[in-house]
Amino acid sequence: MFDTMTATKILGSICGALLFFVVLGFVGTNLYSTPSGVLAIAIEVDDPDAAVAVVEEEEEVSFEDLLASADLGRGERAWASCRACHSLEAGVNGVGPYMHGVVGREVAAVDGFNYSSALESLDGVWDVDALNAFLLRPSDYAPGNRMSYAGMPRDQQRADLILFLKSLTD
Ligand code: HEC
Repeated sequence: MFDTMTATKILGSICGALLFFVVLGFVGTNLYSTPSGVLAIAIEVDDPDAAVAVVEEEEEVSFEDLLASADLGRGERAWASCRACHSLEAGVNGVGPYMHGVVGREVAAVDGFNYSSALESLDGVWDVDALNAFLLRPSDYAPGNRMSYAGMPRDQQRADLILFLKSLTD
């Protein structure tokens, strides 16, 4: 039956649980707040004027400058557009040839990859400028090539990506 002892135990556990949350709340508040109760996490806000200035200047920035300020992490994220077809591992071809060491590599030089005549008839190496022009619009750079990729229109994104490709050497 429902005796006083059971009722006391139940009441006891409820009080215990409530007390636990009160203590937890107290500790939490003191950990994350300053004495005045203001959140003690500083959030940096970029100077909005500076951001506007960058946007206005973008047209005149040379690709070398973009490359100098390129970011490896962003480049790795931009690589998401390529990884469906290209592997980063030397010797492993996918739909396209592997990209390991591509910067400075001769055009259409991966052994065992069946290049289109459009790429094979190109001379030279994949230096920064060649990659920049190719990735902007592959079909303009090498008409008739088999890379089904429309292109990467954003200059900074290509610079980031090329920095990432440059890092793929050992
Ligand atoms: C839909 C598949 C596909 C995507 C996506 C793709 N590629 Fe390609 N890529 C290819 C193929 C296929 C070739 C070979 C083209 C040929 O032989 O005409 C190629 C060739 C290349 C080459 C020339 C390589 C050499 O050895 O001469 C480079 C550089 C390249 N791709 C870079 C990229 C980058 C960087 C991206 C991402 C922005 C990308 N590709 C996205 C399929 C793709």
